[in-house]
Amino acid sequence: MTQLSSFLKTTDLSQAQLGEVLELAARFKANRGDPSTKPLDGQTWALLFHKSSTRTRISFEVGIHELGGHTMILDQNSMQTGRGETVEDTAKVLSRYIHGIIIRTFEHQFIEDIAHFGSIPVVNALTDALHPCQIVSDLLTLAERWGEPGSLLDSLKGRKLVFFGDCASNMAHSWILGGALAGMEIVLCGPEKFAPKPFVNDLLKEAGLEQTYTFTSDVLAAAKAADAVYTDVWVSMGDEDEREQRLQEMAPYQVNASVMGAAKPDAFFLHCLPAHEGEEVSSEVYKSAQSIVFDEAENRLHAQKAILSFLGAR
Ligand code: CP
Ligand code: NVA
Repeated sequence: MTQLSSFLKTTDLSQAQLGEVLELAARFKANRGDPSTKPLDGQTWALLFHKSSTRTRISFEVGIHELGGHTMILDQNSMQTGRGETVEDTAKVLSRYIHGIIIRTFEHQFIEDIAHFGSIPVVNALTDALHPCQIVSDLLTLAERWGEPGSLLDSLKGRKLVFFGDCASNMAHSWILGGALAGMEIVLCGPEKFAPKPFVNDLLKEAGLEQTYTFTSDVLAAAKAADAVYTDVWVSMGDEDEREQRLQEMAPYQVNASVMGAAKPDAFFLHCLPAHEGEEVSSEVYKSAQSIVFDEAENRLHAQKAILSFLGAR
């Protein structure tokens, strides 16, 4: 596999690279604790988080340690960026010390700028626009149910995944990109006001990928014969001021027994977590046998170790 320079969006991977990442992630999962794989040996990776995180931050820290690297938590408030040092200079200076950086922030442009001005790999750990590491983990979670090692990517092709709720969110946009890359049919279903933003179509074009998604507000038509049903919080980090209005507008798009009843009988339910039971998903569905949300959470670790291996091995 050719080296990746950074991982800012799912389409930074080619289809072939996505296949390789899924296979490597599955090998990491099957052989957890194998001390022979240390592609980050002697490296130091920094984590800069401007938003809360449980899964992403912890799985990256654990993953980097398991790959032989060291981690360093950066605190925006105690760095000179808090006093006005430019992003350009910060990126250039960090590149002289560390081997890579994992960033969760608001504006997507911030991580693009760090990658542009710096010379080390940058990993998008979620921005307002995209959450690519989550999608790779989700694809792994579905592929390990539908396929087997050696054919993980192939097992995703032609499958229908329906995303309910805020279709203008980082998760919805990431499914549009990840679904196109994996050859899946993606249906996004939510209020018209929360339709996907046009920038994702530009990213598809830039990557030479066909649009494999549609958007609708018709819940049961969307869910019909779905292989997988996905949702995310209705109030993303940064949207808290709109909470009451969002809850009201998204209420018809809750994933509940009636939605799952329209999907295939063996459809899986997925959620990136954290979840708000009773809002975007009913407790019944969340706790059902079809729900594989904790496999998704676990797979963050294995998928990110695979991504890091392609970024960090020199
Ligand atoms: N799914 C996810 O990114 O979780 P955290 O916000 O806890 O990192
Ligand atoms: N859309 C959510 C995802 C959390 C993992 C948010 O941005 O808060």
